[in-house]
Amino acid sequence: MVVLGIETSCDETAAAVVSGAGKICSDLVLSQLDEHRPYGGVVPEIAARSHMDHIDRLVGEAMAGAGLTYAELDGIAATAGPGLIGGVFVGVMTAKAIALAWEKPFLAVNHLEGHALSVRLSDAIDFPYLLLLVSGGHCQLLAVEGVGRYRRLGGTIDDALGEAFDKTAKLLGLGYPGGPAVEQAASKGDPAAFDLPRPMLGRPGLDFSFSGLKTAVRHAADKAGVLAGAGVLAGAGDDGGHDQTRADLAASFQAAAGDILAERCAKALALFEKDYGTPGPLVVAGGVAANRSLRARLESVAATAGSRLVAPPPKLCTDNAAMIAWAGVERLGLGLVDPLDFAARPRWPLESLSAGG
Ligand code: KG4
Ligand code: ZN
Repeated sequence: MVVLGIETSCDETAAAVVSGAGKICSDLVLSQLDEHRPYGGVVPEIAARSHMDHIDRLVGEAMAGAGLTYAELDGIAATAGPGLIGGVFVGVMTAKAIALAWEKPFLAVNHLEGHALSVRLSDAIDFPYLLLLVSGGHCQLLAVEGVGRYRRLGGTIDDALGEAFDKTAKLLGLGYPGGPAVEQAASKGDPAAFDLPRPMLGRPGLDFSFSGLKTAVRHAADKAGVLAGAGVLAGAGDDGGHDQTRADLAASFQAAAGDILAERCAKALALFEKDYGTPGPLVVAGGVAANRSLRARLESVAATAGSRLVAPPPKLCTDNAAMIAWAGVERLGLGLVDPLDFAARPRWPLESLSAGG
């Protein structure tokens, strides 16, 4: 089985071909970073137009890279939500057109399911597993029971963690995208330099909150004289000591985020073991899962709980089309094909998916 996957839900135009055996035959990601950088965030209109400009060529290159003709495909998968709807339309229309022209099954993939199942492409692990999904738009703890079968155990009540990373980077003038910039700055900083809050720590339940942490970063940056002015980005010429203060604040923020994730995941692992009779594994996916320091924290949490951390390689954590093609493979294998009038959707909770397996 071979499936073409298309991802256009945010600021990456991506196309990939993946086989049923889990072989990534081609995997192309075209980042729009440079187009959005002047605005310090993703501009939906620019994103949609850029997807339009590049998707045909990228799909052609992914097919050529895999050495396949369209006739040899078993299915065409595209992210059909959730995401920036203008971009989602582009991917969905492209996939539907190919499916229609070549009389192949169309697979409408939930972007979050792509992240949730990506670990089965990289590590071939079995259900069930505990999933921490941490990206720019989402922060959730889920019990993954099977394809299309997700039980939400907790989630953020305000910002997603990736969003908090992005805002912290913006406040400190570290540049865009924020996650990798904060991680890089943090590697040179002292995580104990600033005393930042750990919202929700010790509270019952498994929800997260990051907006208070973000506000605390703003106050601390202001007080320390490193709050970036509107539109001020990295490399704008620095003065003595401020770089170190920014690094310290980035490291302190990352440490607070790590403490929050660690405490919530430890609780979730205990609950998971009670409900499923097995201690995990704990899987971390989504863009923030690319962060090495957070991965290390979660590794030790999992080990303490008698579990293990499984994380896809960073390239499979940030947005990509291989995970969409793979979700397509999994769904096609269960006969979960979608009609050509399937509507793209900006919001699409994982718990509402059709179940299989
Ligand atoms: O999964 P993703 O590529 O897109 C969404 O579906 O949201 O995640 C993007 C998010 C951004 O907020 C980005 O700043 C964050 O993931 N991110 C990171 C790192 N790399 C990406 N956050 C922390 N550390 C990183 N190394
Ligand atoms: Zn994503």
